[in-house]
Amino acid sequence: MRDSFGRTIDYLRISVIDHCNLRCVYCMPLRGLSFIPSPELLTAEEIEQVARAAVAVGFRKFRLTGGEPTLRPDLVEIVGRIASIPGAEDVAMTTNAILLPRLARPLKEAGLRRVNVHVDTLDPERLKRLMRFGTLAEIEAGLAAAEKAGLTPVKINVVVTRDYNDEDVVEMARRAKERGWHVRFIELMPLGGGEAAHVALSQFVPSQESRRRIEEALGPLTSLPRTNLADEARNFRFAEGGDGVVGFISPVSEPYCGSCNRMRLTADGKFHLCLLNDDELDVKRALRSGGGETEVAAILTRAVGLKPTGHRLEEGVSAEERAMFQIGG
Ligand code: 5AD
Ligand code: SF4
Repeated sequence: MRDSFGRTIDYLRISVIDHCNLRCVYCMPLRGLSFIPSPELLTAEEIEQVARAAVAVGFRKFRLTGGEPTLRPDLVEIVGRIASIPGAEDVAMTTNAILLPRLARPLKEAGLRRVNVHVDTLDPERLKRLMRFGTLAEIEAGLAAAEKAGLTPVKINVVVTRDYNDEDVVEMARRAKERGWHVRFIELMPLGGGEAAHVALSQFVPSQESRRRIEEALGPLTSLPRTNLADEARNFRFAEGGDGVVGFISPVSEPYCGSCNRMRLTADGKFHLCLLNDDELDVKRALRSGGGETEVAAILTRAVGLKPTGHRLEEGVSAEERAMFQIGG
C-alpha cells in the first residue's frame, strides 16, 4: 500500500503490552507510571484480526514490541497466530532478552524469525545505572538463548545516552568486530513529554560523535550499500577485516522519514501514524463492535493515508501523549 507521499507502507509494528521489567532512564520513570488496564489490551485474537486485515492490504512484515513484549503471557500464541497468516512473510520482535532463556525456543517454534535485543552497554555497573532493573548477565543469557534457538541474525540496539554509555560505544563496536555482531547505535528521541523525554533531550548524543569515537579507537568504517531502502540504519563494516556490522539510527540528526515504511498498532488498539507525533486512529472500537476484516482494513487504509510526511522535532513537536514504552519504538 502506498501513502499519499508515495511511500510503500508494508511493515506493522505491534505493541502487545506497555509493561516492562526494566526502567531505562530515557524510557520509563521509576515513579508515577500508569499502565493500560488489561481489559483495554487487544486480545491475541484481536491482534490476529488486525494482522489479517493488514496482510489483505499489502502488509508483509510484522514486529512485536512493548514495553517489553515477553511480559505478555500469551505472546507465543500471538506469534503463532500472526506467523500462520498466509502472506505474513516476516515476524520479528524487539526485546530486552531477559526472559528469552525460557521463551526463545517456544517463540521460534511458533514462527518468530528473529529478535533485536536492546542492551546499552557491556559494562555491568553502567548497565545498572542506565537500564536500572536487570543485569548484564541476564541479558547475555537471553542473547545466548536467542542464538541457540536460531532467532537470528540477532541485532543489538544501543541507545546512546550522554554520561551513561556514550563512551561504551567503542566496546560495543569492538564486540561487533570481534564476534561478527550487528550492533546499531540509536539516537535518543524525546517522547511522552515527561521525565524520560527530558533525559532524552538533555543527554542526546549525535550519531556523528559515536561514529568518530568508534573510528578513532577501532579504525575506519566503510559504508555498506543499502539493500533495503526502508532500513532505518546506515550500516558500516570495519575497513580492517571482521564480519561485524555497525549501524547508526539517527532520527534526530538525519531524519529518514522519506523512506518510512511503517505503521504502528498500540497495545490498546490504536493505529499510531508516526512515532514522533500524537495522531492516532482507533481500531479497537471497530473490533469490539463486530467490525470484520473489511472494516479493519478500511481503518488501516485511512491510517496509511493520514501518515504525516515527516517529524517536526526541530520545531519542538514530538509525541506528547505517549512515551516510548507505550508505542514500542
Ligand atoms: N529514544 C530512542 N530509542 C529508544 N528506545 C527506547 N526509548 C528510546 C528513546 N527515548 C529503543 C529501545 C528499543 C527500541 C524499541 O526503542 O532501545 O530497542
Ligand atoms: Fe523497557 Fe525497552 Fe523501555 Fe528499557 S527501553 S524500559 S527495556 S521498554
